[in-house]
Amino acid sequence: MNKILPNISSATDSSATIKRRVRTLIDRLAERHELTRDEYLYVLDHITVDDTAHLFQRAYEAKQPHYQNRVFLRGLIEISNHCVRGCRYCGINRNNRSLQRYRLQPDEILDCVERGYALGYRTFVLQGGEDPYFTDDRLTGLIRSIKTIHPDTRITLSLGERSKDSYQRLKDAGADRYLLRHETASRRLYEHLHPNDSNFDERIRCLYDLKELGYQVGAGFMVGSPTQTNADLVEDLMFLKDLDPHMIGIGPYLCHEDTELAGNDSGTLIATLILLALVRLVCPKAMLPATTALGTLDKLGRENALMVGANVMMPNLSPEANKALYEIYQNKIRAKDTDQYDRDDTKRRIEAFHHIADFSAGDHVDIERMIRHD
Ligand code: 5AD
Repeated sequence: MNKILPNISSATDSSATIKRRVRTLIDRLAERHELTRDEYLYVLDHITVDDTAHLFQRAYEAKQPHYQNRVFLRGLIEISNHCVRGCRYCGINRNNRSLQRYRLQPDEILDCVERGYALGYRTFVLQGGEDPYFTDDRLTGLIRSIKTIHPDTRITLSLGERSKDSYQRLKDAGADRYLLRHETASRRLYEHLHPNDSNFDERIRCLYDLKELGYQVGAGFMVGSPTQTNADLVEDLMFLKDLDPHMIGIGPYLCHEDTELAGNDSGTLIATLILLALVRLVCPKAMLPATTALGTLDKLGRENALMVGANVMMPNLSPEANKALYEIYQNKIRAKDTDQYDRDDTKRRIEAFHHIADFSAGDHVDIERMIRHD
């Protein structure tokens, strides 16, 4: 049966015994950072709106010892919307013929970095579809240029699946971090969402390779994708515990009408916040972005995310003309004005919810400790 948090709309029909068990399990997770499969499933199947305040409070507390109320800012540069993949949910998948494609040239990317650096950002995320134009040679040249001009920055790549050898070269050139959402840790759901030329084992292999190579690694998944069940979400929690990534991107699935999955329901704010909070308890030291997808779903989606454990935001530094074309889902929110306005507005929003905007390179606590002791 397709259950995605079925009780979440009604806080009334949960007996006192069920409620007590849900709270006990949330407390256990907050203390031990793991539960069994059955226990996770029990929480997801029985949690009500009533219990979320408790879960959210525990998740908010869990980030305090490691990051307090700091929110790390990353400058996002969307370098290409060309993609060789056919992911059924994604608006920039290769089969979407109605999308105008672009790729930034190295000098345009360096311009974005310059603008971002002047605005105070010290981490740059180079994100794109899987575009064969971005060979190892092109990327290593680019990474070296950025690191030569600005050795005090961190470079995060988010360019999909590549060979271990390629990841190694990019790392040697100076890349520090790599984001590659696992999308779902359920083989069944993975195969439902991806065509035959994508392979679940291959995706998971990439993540373990990246970790072995010494990257700060980001995994992540969508909440509410078509046919996703609570049991599928339990697999995500189990998988994250095992991989123990440095970063975890969680956002709602947002239906895109120019994809094969047109007509499906999108994920909900409450389901996404619950998963975000649970993930904060499973991986208390992870960097958790308040995602743009959540901000697109709800005006205060990202602010809500900060209150349940998120601690990263990623303002978009792509050239104005390209922002609209990086349409992985529709109606993606965009800053209305300049990048400077976007920065100041993001800072204001963070402060309005009693957090502090942190423009430092912002490494994961364990990495930071290692660097300090070198
Ligand atoms: N809705 C929400 N998130 C999406 N992504 C791709 N398409 C969608 C969509 N329709 C997410 C995937 C991918 C990241 C770049 O964006 O998780 O990894």
